[in-house]
Amino acid sequence: MLISKLRIGINGYGTIGRRVADAVMKQPDMDIVGVTKATADYRVDEAQEKGIKVFCLNESDRKQFDEAGYYAEGSLKELLDGCDAVVDCAPKGKGKENLAIYSNYPGLKSVFQGGEKHDLTGFSFNSDCNFELAAGKRFLRVVSCNTTALCRIISTLNTSFQIRKVRATLVRRSSDQSESEKSVLNAWVPETSKGFPSHHSADVRTIMPGLKITTLAGEAPMTLMHGHMLFIEMENCNATAEAVTESLKQNPRILLCSTEKGLTSTAKLKDLFSLNGRNGNLYEVCVWKEGIGVDPDGEIGLHMAIDQQADVVPENIDAIRAMFGTMPAEESIALTNASLGIGKIVKNVAYVRK
Ligand SMILES: NC(=O)c1ccc[n+]([C@@H]2O[C@H](COP(=O)([O-])OP(=O)(O)OC[C@H]3O[C@@H](n4cnc5c(N)ncnc54)[C@H](OP(=O)(O)O)[C@@H]3O)[C@@H](O)[C@H]2O)c1
Repeated sequence: MLISKLRIGINGYGTIGRRVADAVMKQPDMDIVGVTKATADYRVDEAQEKGIKVFCLNESDRKQFDEAGYYAEGSLKELLDGCDAVVDCAPKGKGKENLAIYSNYPGLKSVFQGGEKHDLTGFSFNSDCNFELAAGKRFLRVVSCNTTALCRIISTLNTSFQIRKVRATLVRRSSDQSESEKSVLNAWVPETSKGFPSHHSADVRTIMPGLKITTLAGEAPMTLMHGHMLFIEMENCNATAEAVTESLKQNPRILLCSTEKGLTSTAKLKDLFSLNGRNGNLYEVCVWKEGIGVDPDGEIGLHMAIDQQADVVPENIDAIRAMFGTMPAEESIALTNASLGIGKIVKNVAYVRK
């Protein structure tokens, strides 16, 4: 039985930070101490209206808050003083600087995001794959939205089938919905910075070290979700589409959706989850039932869609419990799922788990 709640701070209240903050507030074993904002803008109002304390990054930023008519509780330093753990949701690349700050607080644990490199913490986390190995860690990284989705699907299928090799084609959204300043308007932008394969395959192997996987990725003119096309070779070529579907149904964080119900695109999925108490967040990875198949050589093929803003949120919550060792993986995952409504899908709309 828990003696006291874990006190959680969120450094960075952007796309991921505000969603992790909402999720922390739904956990019976966690209290939110506050969030930081670098810029005094409408999201300060949003946080304060939810009852979340907002801190500026440095004491010198207080002037900016005062001038914009906002109240800052203090700086990051004061926030960290009151926390057992901080979830770093700062922009990609700030991790090194922030880890140096967090290291000054001896009892403080820190969760970083997938925009940081594996080497920053030396441990990358996924709830389904390596929850127990996080026990006692002081720093860890929750892998990116794409890597989280790949690990979730591959590890689930691996419990039923022996996977030989995975090939994944990633069609990435070009920007998040709020990022009006940056997006691809009318083009395909292949990800070539690392050549072939894209960095995603190496990132999946930070979680599943022995896995044979190769990936290619690019950006498309869309903001709603990422799309992946997966091809999975197995050691035994005796799987059927039905068996693959049954296997995926075992994981509540995988949503099997159906075109028969009108869920023909990511736009329809976002529409479904815009209400139903989800504020548009699809924590589940979505796989189209009708798109699952096995070819004559025994290779599985499937389409999946990933809400880049949401699928890492339950992982962040589990990562906190995993580091503190407050409960085993199954219990944490079930608690996170129940608190966020994961696995409860609208009857007769999506493909309902038995
Ligand atoms: N967006 C996604 O689809 C996605 C998915 C999975 C993982 N991630 C990862 O999650 C992390 C955060 O990404 P995001 O998309 O949430 O970014 P974001 O929307 O740009 O939000 C970043 C937040 O950090 C604040 N900030 C700026 N400088 C800071 C600093 N020095 N210290 C602390 N906070 C600072 C910003 O403040 P102001 O708004 O006040 O200026 C903003 O609220 C990245 O590692 C990213 O790769 C993102």
